[in-house]
Amino acid sequence: MAKAKAKRATSGARSRARSSDAISLLKADHREVEGWFEQFEKARSADRKRELADRICTALKVHTTIEEEVFYPAFLEATQDEEIHHEAEVEHDGAKALIGTIEASGPDDEYFDARVKVLAEMIKHHVNEEEQRGGMFAEARQSDMDLDALGEQMKSRRSELLEGMRSTGSGPGRRLAVAAVDTGA
Ligand SMILES: [Fe+2]
Ligand SMILES: [Fe+2]
Repeated sequence: MAKAKAKRATSGARSRARSSDAISLLKADHREVEGWFEQFEKARSADRKRELADRICTALKVHTTIEEEVFYPAFLEATQDEEIHHEAEVEHDGAKALIGTIEASGPDDEYFDARVKVLAEMIKHHVNEEEQRGGMFAEARQSDMDLDALGEQMKSRRSELLEGMRSTGSGPGRRLAVAAVDTGA
């Protein structure tokens, strides 16, 4: 499968980056989670580790969901690039399995830190695949995807997901949802 089919590259090429477009929104999520992984590495207390791990897991679940429901299908439709798309989906599956294990365990588990560290490595690799030169986001910018409209769709889906977690969940989902609403995220 050809890696990049750039048939539409000239028609819809966009070089501008707006803070609310789909890619800017997803990149902001990436930076936020990277910051929490860094804080986790420095954390010493079990409470702090649990809090950060919960925040990371919840944020990643919301992020992967809005990508899979909104951004990835639009990417596949616009670019027909199955290689990049399918690899990203499979990487999400791997991350989600580990997230489930982290959520089900705690800092008293001797493997907890290792799980969070490996998740950080998996996400670092995946984010690089999305953001690198010639990667998914670069290809999306060269396509005719409506990144502003997709950004709006993802924002409203994220609010719905967080609202659902806030009304039914407790603990991390609730805290993250409240924080996101407070900051207008
Ligand atoms: Fe992403
Ligand atoms: Fe992703």
